[in-house]
Amino acid sequence: MIRVRVPATTANLGPGFDALGLALRLHNTVAIEAAEEPRIEIEGEGAVSLPRDPSHLAYRAALAVAGAGTPRGTAAPRAFHLRQHNRIPLARGLGSSAAAIVGGAAAANALLGGPLDTQALIDLCAGLEGHPDNVAPAVLGGLVACVTTEAGKIRSTRLIPKRLRVVIAIPEFAVSTAEARRLLPETVPFRDAVFNVTRTALLVASLVEGRTEMLDEATRDRLHQPYRARLVPGLEAVFAAAREAGAHGVALSGSGPTVVAFGEAPGIGEAMRRAFEAAGAGCRVLGAEVDTEGTVVERDS
Ligand code: HSE
Repeated sequence: MIRVRVPATTANLGPGFDALGLALRLHNTVAIEAAEEPRIEIEGEGAVSLPRDPSHLAYRAALAVAGAGTPRGTAAPRAFHLRQHNRIPLARGLGSSAAAIVGGAAAANALLGGPLDTQALIDLCAGLEGHPDNVAPAVLGGLVACVTTEAGKIRSTRLIPKRLRVVIAIPEFAVSTAEARRLLPETVPFRDAVFNVTRTALLVASLVEGRTEMLDEATRDRLHQPYRARLVPGLEAVFAAAREAGAHGVALSGSGPTVVAFGEAPGIGEAMRRAFEAAGAGCRVLGAEVDTEGTVVERDS
């Protein structure tokens, strides 16, 4: 089988809604081989709940790659045998669906001899996911700035943050990204748009230059977090607790409910855990390094 390793991702980072994502060293693997009939095995997160038929997200992505074309003179396989090992928790704002899509697509692409280049792979995966800010960093690693052009193509570029310590608090409840996107307004005040544009620019510069003292202001957001707060009980208290414990900046991870904090102070994780608990939600806390490799193909038995 050909196996790929795909990182978790935290999107938005506060103000960079649909524009920024950061890859984390928490990985899923997807292994694939050609088969006569679809066969799907899942271990780890989602092993009980995820479908084991061709509606499975990684499988659909693999099929989409096969459908996009195989190298001249080779036929697409009839089906795939796909084995997925998940460490990224599902529906928590850590890019589990992007990891499934990228994993299935990248594994099939490697199996078929690489019909898609990196740009085409990102375009295909973002098309399946609906937005690029988890998919692009899952493919590329690091901190990725990305946009969707009016023609539906993704433009993305990878940067490496300096001296960034990440702590994530993952509550026990799930949030659906689709529902979290439905809560967003059609229009926002001009001053809120300016608020986010200015902070997004400062955030990218601060992360790349290691200017952690800027992150408190640079992670502030008015475009999505205020509207989504009602899906995450205690969100404001968790933000405040992280800052109080010494976090340089703090944000909802993707569409939540996970909260991501930046900082090296030892009490940040515990402070967020206690604040979530006070709001009635158990949660686990992880320190996470930035993944700079993105999706890696590991040839195996
Ligand atoms: N930018 C997306 C959103 C990320 O916030 O809806 C979802 O993980």
